[in-house]
Amino acid sequence: MKKVNVAIVGVTGAVGQEFLNLIEERNFPYNNLKMLASARSAGKKINFMGKEYTVEETTENSFEGVDIALFAGGKASKIFGPAAVKAGAVVIDNSSTYRMDPEVPLVVPEVNPQAIAKHKGIIANPNCSTIIMVMALKPLYDISKIKRVVVSTYQAVSGAGREGMEELKNQLEDLANGKTPQAKVLPVASLNKHYQIASNLLPQIDIFMDNDYTKEEMKMIDETRKIMEDADMKITATTVRVPVYRSHAESVNVEFYEEVSAESARAALEKFSGVIVRDNPDEMIYPQPLETSGKDDVEVGRIRKDFSVEHGLNFWVCGDQIRKGAALNALQIAEYLINH
Ligand SMILES: NC(=O)c1ccc[n+]([C@@H]2O[C@H](COP(=O)([O-])OP(=O)(O)OC[C@H]3O[C@@H](n4cnc5c(N)ncnc54)[C@H](OP(=O)(O)O)[C@@H]3O)[C@@H](O)[C@H]2O)c1
Repeated sequence: MKKVNVAIVGVTGAVGQEFLNLIEERNFPYNNLKMLASARSAGKKINFMGKEYTVEETTENSFEGVDIALFAGGKASKIFGPAAVKAGAVVIDNSSTYRMDPEVPLVVPEVNPQAIAKHKGIIANPNCSTIIMVMALKPLYDISKIKRVVVSTYQAVSGAGREGMEELKNQLEDLANGKTPQAKVLPVASLNKHYQIASNLLPQIDIFMDNDYTKEEMKMIDETRKIMEDADMKITATTVRVPVYRSHAESVNVEFYEEVSAESARAALEKFSGVIVRDNPDEMIYPQPLETSGKDDVEVGRIRKDFSVEHGLNFWVCGDQIRKGAALNALQIAEYLINH
């Protein structure tokens, strides 16, 4: 494979750190690696594959000679993405900034790799819950077009980054020590009001929109239609933060135009790259966040007919949202670019 010069923006964060794990694990072909974050982390040392790197502050001049810029720095892609493209890099962005831009492909390589070729310098990585859901929807859609999807998510605290994980850890320790837990981050760090997540569930991920859906719910709806290239697909979502460290889970109800049996769904999912079927009620086998954490594949189980509608199916899907929901998906896009 051709070797490329890579920059990781947000290398000190949850997704940035996972990029490093995956670059090593997958033997990703790089020449130079630039580690970028905000001014807060500039000067910090990171040991990676036997070499010491110094984290640099991201600026408009950070992208000279960079072929692929992996962005995992929240608003950083809005500020520095255009400068990276101008310098000649292809930007693969984990934030929501460019996802619904008609000029920007929104890609899950197993689902719509054909979109990658249309890029004009920026390729967007979809929302983590969206990626995990479409990995299961695509092989089923190939059996029958989908009429409607009803999804409820059970999203891990690491979806809110480093701070989200620390918040759950601190609150669990406080509870164990008989102290009152402090809530400073969830549901949304930038808002003034916060709620305890330990021993609790928060039916709010991201801010509320004018239609009373959260932004996360609208991302799942809009992005799924864009990735699946089906503007008519009806989708409704409820997104919930749960006191789990890592790996999102989703309960998905699908209504098809034609009959899709549980058996044919299982067979199609088993054949689909990146999906594992873990589904045996007799043996109490089904996907669980603890088991999918740190793994690349998305796992599907509890596949069963929905008797309440014509052509309905229920399933449960779990996936590591820092891997397939973010860093792995972005790196797969980068690998596709290198190979094509
Ligand atoms: N966590 C997930 O499960 C997940 C899944 C899918 C997508 N995403 C998306 O991926 C991105 C990163 O998320 P995360 O969970 O890794 O967040 P995180 O743990 O909070 O890390 C944020 C990273 O961004 C850096 N950063 C912040 N502002 C910056 C700026 N102006 N310029 C350059 N770097 C900046 C931070 O650097 P400092 O250390 O210097 O502060 C840190 O490295 C976000 O857009 C998020 O929505 C996250």
